[in-house]
Amino acid sequence: MSVKLTHTAAWKELNKQFQATKKQRMTELFAEHPDRATQFSLEAAGLYLDYSKNRLSEHTLVTLCDLARECDLTNNIEALFSGKHVNFTEDRPALHTRLRAKHVDEQVNNTLQQMRLFVDSIYDQSWRGFSNKPITDVVNIGIGGSDLGPHLVTKALAAYTQNKVNVHFVSNIDGTDLFTTLKSLNPESTLFIVASKSFTTIETLTNANTAKQWLLQSFPNPAAIKNHFVAITANPYRATEFGIAETNIFAFWDWVGGRYSLWSAIGLPIALAIGMDNFMLLLNGANVMDEHFRSAPFEKNMPVLLALISLWYINFYHCHTQAIIPYDENLALLPSYLQQLDMESNGKSVNQKGASLNYETAPIIWGGVGSNGQHAFHQLLHQSERIIPVDFIICLQNSHPYRQQHEQLFYNCVAQSQALMEGQTSEQVFCNMFAEGMNDANAKTLSKHKAIPGNKPSNTLVLKQLDPQSVGALIALYEHKVFVQGVIWQINSFDQYGVELGKQLASALQSSQAAVDINASTSALLQLFKRSDQKK
Ligand code: F6P
Repeated sequence: MSVKLTHTAAWKELNKQFQATKKQRMTELFAEHPDRATQFSLEAAGLYLDYSKNRLSEHTLVTLCDLARECDLTNNIEALFSGKHVNFTEDRPALHTRLRAKHVDEQVNNTLQQMRLFVDSIYDQSWRGFSNKPITDVVNIGIGGSDLGPHLVTKALAAYTQNKVNVHFVSNIDGTDLFTTLKSLNPESTLFIVASKSFTTIETLTNANTAKQWLLQSFPNPAAIKNHFVAITANPYRATEFGIAETNIFAFWDWVGGRYSLWSAIGLPIALAIGMDNFMLLLNGANVMDEHFRSAPFEKNMPVLLALISLWYINFYHCHTQAIIPYDENLALLPSYLQQLDMESNGKSVNQKGASLNYETAPIIWGGVGSNGQHAFHQLLHQSERIIPVDFIICLQNSHPYRQQHEQLFYNCVAQSQALMEGQTSEQVFCNMFAEGMNDANAKTLSKHKAIPGNKPSNTLVLKQLDPQSVGALIALYEHKVFVQGVIWQINSFDQYGVELGKQLASALQSSQAAVDINASTSALLQLFKRSDQKK
């Protein structure tokens, strides 16, 4: 798109609408439109989205869809699916949707077959450790996209575990992560997956090397590596250099972005935990969302609506953050996963041509599980001046035997969105306290503290249950939401150059050639560390 985003007709119209409606209360919108809950909700790929509790009229929603049309979203979606080089700075496509297509191509199919054979061999114990013991524990060593996606899904689908192997995740360069994991494991029955698209990531390689040493302490024979190490990478050369047998390498390709890679062989830990058939159902759930995204009109398109509503708050209400609150313990990692997906994809400030943007992009994603959050950070959601749009996520069915707890969980979730929207005035609070016998003066003062402004927006996403298909659809929904926003903001959602400088500086600081003209603060911190090392 050549025209500046803020110069589009829809953007200007949205500005006008914002000025005219910013004080409007959602409760008035509900009163004016008794069918609002039906009108502002939709179902897709087994997910139900209620977006009625937003500061949004139908007119604004149509204008937001006009904005998407002016930004040529339809052609951009086609460009994504058809393999155009949407990752223009790195000159390559972003074809994660191809990994979960109904009919995958030969190279994707080959990897899926390789994964199935591998999972079978671990399950039927034909894969043996070096001392001929079956594998009981698998440790995935990876970070960022090579950790967050598989970790999220493995936990989300805990109810589907086949109980054949224990799957562990080590990501952090903080040695505590690896140490606490290895502490309880037996090298004879442990297998490591080194997951790294680039096979150059320092955290992953350092941890993988330590794991190798740990193994070789038990088997002082390099031949043992073949029985205990596999790699998932787009850089097989570096994996073999590390010592991993060629036959133990699962390939994926540069057209799969790291944070979009759980659908590739990077999903191997998921397949080991829940079985290959369930992994295929996960892919299928994502594919159903892909087809919906590709074909539904914008006004009925779940990822598009989620993206536009969020953009409305970011660019017009200037909300800086977005809370993700799953009412489900098994989705506890969703906020961290979405932090990478959203903030690494869209935390950018120049457009395709390198020109600075004069509008905000990705929100700060944060959150945590309900109902725990109600007893912690929800206070700020309800009573601070800030508007923090919330996505609540909840399942109809429980994945544990305690229905009573699940009912309470569900009611709590719905009550939160209600409280955020309705609030309570100081007059209401005053009347209640006065009726209960509090004296006039005290009731007046306290009512100011107890009043809740309300009119705080939220979406509620309802899954029937936490099954492989729903989880696949849920993740694909957010992937596409992020893509739509990137298109409208005219940025590249598929690179992440911002993370490079820190990596370079860390390795420079570690090397003896650390710059002499280093700033005083960094230098003092280094000295502090070096002195502590000498005292040991
Ligand atoms: O440093 C950021 C990043 O490149 C992420 O984008 C990526 O998911 C992560 O590091 C891990 O990269 P790799 O899979 O190449 O080890």
